[in-house]
Amino acid sequence: MKDCGQRYLVQRELTIDKLDFLHQKLQIQFELSNVYLNSVYLLLFFNSQKMIQLHDKSFAPFISAKEIDLAITKIVQQIKTDLGDEIPVFLGVLNGSFMFVSDFMKQFSGQCELSFVKLASYDGITSTEEVQHLIGLHHDLTNRTVIVLEDIVDTGTTLLSLKKSIEKESVKSFKVASLFFKPEAYKKEITIDYVGIRIPDKFIVGYGLDYNGLGRNLPAVYQLKE
Ligand code: IMP
Ligand code: MG
Repeated sequence: MKDCGQRYLVQRELTIDKLDFLHQKLQIQFELSNVYLNSVYLLLFFNSQKMIQLHDKSFAPFISAKEIDLAITKIVQQIKTDLGDEIPVFLGVLNGSFMFVSDFMKQFSGQCELSFVKLASYDGITSTEEVQHLIGLHHDLTNRTVIVLEDIVDTGTTLLSLKKSIEKESVKSFKVASLFFKPEAYKKEITIDYVGIRIPDKFIVGYGLDYNGLGRNLPAVYQLKE
């Protein structure tokens, strides 16, 4: 009887030891999975803040895809309110504005027409005074409400050149919408009627904008790191 009692006590102690051991093992596993999760979060955070390299230059994250989307919604709403019943001709300026025009058109619910011109004034990261009209106007704009859709207005040289060629077309009205605008760099008198986001006078890439051909496909905007 005494033996049985002792065996019971020994077995009970062994079971408690086993449970303790299992408990410790579970705790270690739990802490390890916490450490693992934390490192995954950190990795995700650092990845979302990742710098990019295009040719010889580095760029840092600057404007998120979400912020761009909100800026476009704001422009669309303002234009829609101002237009009333008017059916406008939107005029996209290639190459840079292709992504803006596409997202703008998806958000714009009213009737409208779309045309493109192709202009170039940038050489690398520097704006030049010379604007090349690579594809001109091929749309009858007589008596039409024309709204230019620009990716970015920097010095305004491209816009002035475009305005001069549109003025020959006897349009009803001419307005300008630009997703990005660099007020410190702007040198012209033309009113930018709709501005998405004002930015400092620093070179950016992404969302249609390029550095020597690269970076147009990035869904967010990055700023040159100097
Ligand atoms: P602007 O003639 O100086 O106003 O420049 C207008 C054009 O230059 C824009 O439509 C863009 O194609 C290009 N551009 C201006 N600033 C930038 C920039 O920061 N990054 C990339 N392209 C730019
Ligand atoms: Mg442009």
